[in-house]
Amino acid sequence: MKTDHAYKNANLPPAERAADLLSHLTLAEKIGQMTQVEKNSIDLEDITKLGIGSLLSGGGGVPEPNTAAAWRKMIGEFQQKALASRLGIPLLYGVDAVHGHNNVHGATIFPHNIGLGATRNADLVRRIGRATAVELAATDIRWDFAPAVSIPQDIRWGRSYEGYSQDSKLVSELAVAYVQGLQGEDLAGETAVLPSVKHFIADAATTWGTSKRINREELAAVAVDETLANAHVSDMQRAVALGAWQIDQGVTEIDEATLRAVHLPPYLAAIKAGALNIMVSYSSWGGLRMHAQKYLLTDVLKGEYGFSGFLVSDWEAVQQIDPDLKTSVVTSINAGLDMVMVPFHYHDFMATLTEAVESGDVPMSRIDDAVQRILMVKFAMGLFERPFTQTPLDLMGCAEHRALAGEAAQQSAVLLKNEGNLLPFPKTLPRLLVAGTPADDIGYQCGGWTISWMGAPGPITKGSTLLEGIREAAEDTAVIYDPASEQTTRAEVGLVVLAEEPYAEGMGDRYDLHLTPEQLALLERVRQRVDKLVVLLFSGRPLIVTEPLAEWDAFIAAWLPGSEASALGEVLFGERPFTGKLSFHWPRSMNDIPLGSTDAEPLWPLGFGLSTAAAFAD
Ligand code: GLC
Repeated sequence: MKTDHAYKNANLPPAERAADLLSHLTLAEKIGQMTQVEKNSIDLEDITKLGIGSLLSGGGGVPEPNTAAAWRKMIGEFQQKALASRLGIPLLYGVDAVHGHNNVHGATIFPHNIGLGATRNADLVRRIGRATAVELAATDIRWDFAPAVSIPQDIRWGRSYEGYSQDSKLVSELAVAYVQGLQGEDLAGETAVLPSVKHFIADAATTWGTSKRINREELAAVAVDETLANAHVSDMQRAVALGAWQIDQGVTEIDEATLRAVHLPPYLAAIKAGALNIMVSYSSWGGLRMHAQKYLLTDVLKGEYGFSGFLVSDWEAVQQIDPDLKTSVVTSINAGLDMVMVPFHYHDFMATLTEAVESGDVPMSRIDDAVQRILMVKFAMGLFERPFTQTPLDLMGCAEHRALAGEAAQQSAVLLKNEGNLLPFPKTLPRLLVAGTPADDIGYQCGGWTISWMGAPGPITKGSTLLEGIREAAEDTAVIYDPASEQTTRAEVGLVVLAEEPYAEGMGDRYDLHLTPEQLALLERVRQRVDKLVVLLFSGRPLIVTEPLAEWDAFIAAWLPGSEASALGEVLFGERPFTGKLSFHWPRSMNDIPLGSTDAEPLWPLGFGLSTAAAFAD
């Protein structure tokens, strides 16, 4: 009589189903489940033959054409190959949807985390997590490499904007909200998405100058680095000259007490909220790469705190442990890593791990523990019963989600200076001069991790710009858009919109956070033409503005508001109030970076933000 295996019984607990399925797997199939491959590197037939457990798109890993339908088709093909494997174990596909389903053209792009921190609105963040999950599910993607629970100490770090705040408690609160939003009411629900809380641990507490990500003496070699070459950065040398890869993936030199008091709580809060995946950090602590840190990965996280989900590596992070691949693989798997984001040469990885088990360097019990964790999560997500969703594609970038993104953009803007209560602009304002190309540029307002890994200026995706919003909100005010301020017409008020060039990860590490000479020159040209000067900044972190600030009548930090920056028009013209509060300290000078370098008071402390009543609140 055909005995239906226990793992097929959807009424049994996920852990029980996983244990049963595990007992049927060969070593090759177990290692297949522990292997995550980048989607451009996989041989489709290997998904079936090798029982590959996971695939991913790295930043910008998009199908051609980059449409929601093409994404759904691509994921569907991969999943069909996985279901055709000997035991038909569905795969988990992961992406970095760090501010919406941001790789997909036409997806809703929400503010980056630094802006969400300024809203202090956990319910808003939960709704954003839910909307993001729905857009992910519409493409059959059920794993999101988010939220980052980084607590940036040195804002020269190119990933500062991925952090909600420099306040650990606020990070915990918003991370829990996002995790709940992604998961929804039931992790087995059709639009439930698995969060990946990252990067464990203290990724944002590294010391400037300690990153070994690139060899500065051999910059030419960087150009052929399989990952960095994907950055499509035409001039890596220029990026390095600005400070790229000085601190990202560096060494965290804090003591264990600080690590536990400041950086651990957001993970514990997220686990309590049901998070079943954590991504390990590239950075190092205690003399070891985090991917080799058995004490923290196994003894503390899995032992002391009972984390029952699985740990995934970061991209090619295992290979950074040691020049010898076997040493790296053995060290990281024995340290407690469960799934390896290879991402390219998966045959080498699988052969190396197989040999390590056969030679006894990695005990089978460690392999079984890793696969049990991975399978338990797949059962908990109902992937065996429902490997495909029926979520309508037209929810991608839908009006409801865009309205939510606009609401978030409005609540994330922080009013830092407002001489004479210049803001909100009165409806009777005769002329408003708007300068700065970022005023009308989707790419600048979205920042990194948008369509491509680094993001880019220009009309990179659908959305609405700040200028569009100003024109919409300015009823009787004449809006003069002169991006370079080359004309001479005067205006009662000038609004200069500045932005950082988009960047991601260590490519955004910077020696210097002052405004550029070109930005200062533009400010000067506009200053000469107007009675009152307002500056609005799109940036992934506080910049040093202490000197020029004296010339500004008002100043707004808008962070990276995403695809719906037009919503800021309503705040500028008083239909919505300014409510944002800084979630980072704003330093006076570069000497005050990292936090605590000097006992100088910040220009504005965390928590600061001027409010304006909504003149026309409905
Ligand atoms: C990157 C990032 C990580 C991301 C992963 C996959 O290098 O460090 O945050 O989730 O690779 O793109």
